[in-house]
Amino acid sequence: MANSKNPGKSSTSAVELRHPPHHELFSASRAGHLDSRLRRFIYRPDHLAERYVKPGDRVLDFGCGPGFFTREFAKRTGDTGMVIAVDLQEEMLRILREKLEPEGLMPRIRTHQCAEDSLGLSPEWDRKIDVAFAIFVVHEVPDPKKLFREILSLLRPGALLFYSEPPFIVSGTEFRSNLALAQEAGLRLIERRLFLVNRAAVLRKERGVEIP
Ligand SMILES: C[S@@+](CC[C@H](N)C(=O)[O-])C[C@H]1O[C@@H](n2cnc3c(N)ncnc32)[C@H](O)[C@@H]1O
Repeated sequence: MANSKNPGKSSTSAVELRHPPHHELFSASRAGHLDSRLRRFIYRPDHLAERYVKPGDRVLDFGCGPGFFTREFAKRTGDTGMVIAVDLQEEMLRILREKLEPEGLMPRIRTHQCAEDSLGLSPEWDRKIDVAFAIFVVHEVPDPKKLFREILSLLRPGALLFYSEPPFIVSGTEFRSNLALAQEAGLRLIERRLFLVNRAAVLRKERGVEIP
């Protein structure tokens, strides 16, 4: 795990990573688009945090990008909670740290650069996460089922995963097929909803469910 004092591995360039055409990696060179005032006004990440995060929670923000949602999750957890912000691109994590450090939020945030096909958090995090988010990222991941299994093992029993995808990139069929993979991985679908115009679902790790 890397944090502001230990920035971790060197930057991973978007062009070094291969994806199918419509699953193109969102390059860190476009990070500014993800953290604009307009986007904040439209998405109200503070409302999302209020709805799903409680003070003291340990939150996983998978595919955090430059920290658009991470910021509000960290404000909501307070000093007794924390957010693990995970991304494939070290450059995204660097931008996140540079933005949220002056806001005084970094003591509540750990950044972690993962591999393309593995979250790679240490087993000490197993069953420790109270709520996880995977927002506009799963379509860029090569093996969603593996990802859902990894998230399942990190969630404490009863914890939720909020999963969302943009409709212009991810078709209804693809979203439903990813949801089926999440359920095969052992998560229970408890709500289908819209997140503005985006497809979204809330899944839960039921008590007694573990990775076989
Ligand atoms: C479209 S951006 C969304 C960022 C953030 N969730 C938001 O909505 O503001 C997708 C992010 O997922 C990251 N990502 C793509 N593939 C990934 C993978 N296999 N593991 C972790 N992060 C990944 C990208 O680097 C990028 O920062």
